[in-house]
Amino acid sequence: MHKSPDDWTAPYRAVIKGCGSFVPAKVLTNDDLAKMVDTSDEWITGRTGIKVRHITTDNESTAFLATEAAKRALTDANITGGDLDLIIVATITPEMVFPSTACFVQSALQAKKACVFDVTAACSGFIYGIGIAQQFLESGRYKNALVVGAETLTKITDWSDRTSCILFGDGAGAVVLESCGDGRRGIIYSTMSADGDSWQSLNCQAYGSRHPACKELDDPKKIYMEIRGREVYQQAVRRMVETVTSSLDYCNLTTDDIKMLISHQMNARIIESAAKRLKLPTEKVYINIDRYGNTSSASVPIAFDECVKKGKIKRGDIIVFVAFGAGLTWGANVIQY
Ligand code: UT7
Repeated sequence: MHKSPDDWTAPYRAVIKGCGSFVPAKVLTNDDLAKMVDTSDEWITGRTGIKVRHITTDNESTAFLATEAAKRALTDANITGGDLDLIIVATITPEMVFPSTACFVQSALQAKKACVFDVTAACSGFIYGIGIAQQFLESGRYKNALVVGAETLTKITDWSDRTSCILFGDGAGAVVLESCGDGRRGIIYSTMSADGDSWQSLNCQAYGSRHPACKELDDPKKIYMEIRGREVYQQAVRRMVETVTSSLDYCNLTTDDIKMLISHQMNARIIESAAKRLKLPTEKVYINIDRYGNTSSASVPIAFDECVKKGKIKRGDIIVFVAFGAGLTWGANVIQY
């Protein structure tokens, strides 16, 4: 049995020093989509809460979005790339099969001394990234970490499938974490879970080793995301509620202590349903899916950056990040900002 975090004697904690986000300029409205597939603004808004999403052009890639968000986070934290010891990029739409997207970000930031790698946990990727960085920083051996969630999901979207193409957008969000030994709490607790048995609920099968690029696909649709929306919907609500509840219990906190729940933005109805079950009032649940759609691993850091910039979160507030996505994966971070 683990001890409560309040009992921990860890001399170092991972504290958020800065944040930033970036989305491409091009927007796609629901009305634009209604010209491409049999759908309507009314259906999309009513079923998902999405009104507009930002999409990349052919010249904009995941590393580009990640780097732009990272630069903003570094400026906010008042450090440079050269100060970074660790870069984690959470993405399922990497720059290339290899090297990692994090290598491109490291190069662009001239973060010469940083250890860098990608995390593949889909929509939960940023939560995983924070949880992993926390371990590095609490060891005291790493001082400054950059965690980025960056996606270009519209590059693997089937624009002829109305059940999925209305959901996704592109973007990136980043935070800089610092290992502090001054008594601040920072990341109080992180939890990361998965159920690989349910991989088929959400996937994109090309071009890994099972379906390599050098061989013709048995189904050309495998280059696109496949989602079983209803399955995911039910699991997402259940897992997010369970995860937030158990995380708060573990930290000896209640929903009354939370200033803001920042959930992965997959569907406004999913977030609202989870919030209702958690008995969280609407002012404690941040929703911006109307303007970005589902940006997978980027959605939590983009929402967090907006909350900070709008003054909805102040230093010392307790906030919770929670996400659920392909894998299936899910997780949460409990943070004193
Ligand atoms: O972050 C992880 C990835 N995200 C997800 O996996 C999304 C999670 N799931 C969802 O957000 C929701 O399940 C959806 C938004 C995908 C679908 O909403 P829903 O309320 O679960 O709708 P549904 O799948 O039950 O479909 C209802 C009806 C169907 O027609 P019938 O069978 O009732 O005649 C669909 O064919 O809506 C139809 N439909 C559409 N109609 C207009 C499905 N997509 C559309 C569309 N426009 N774009």
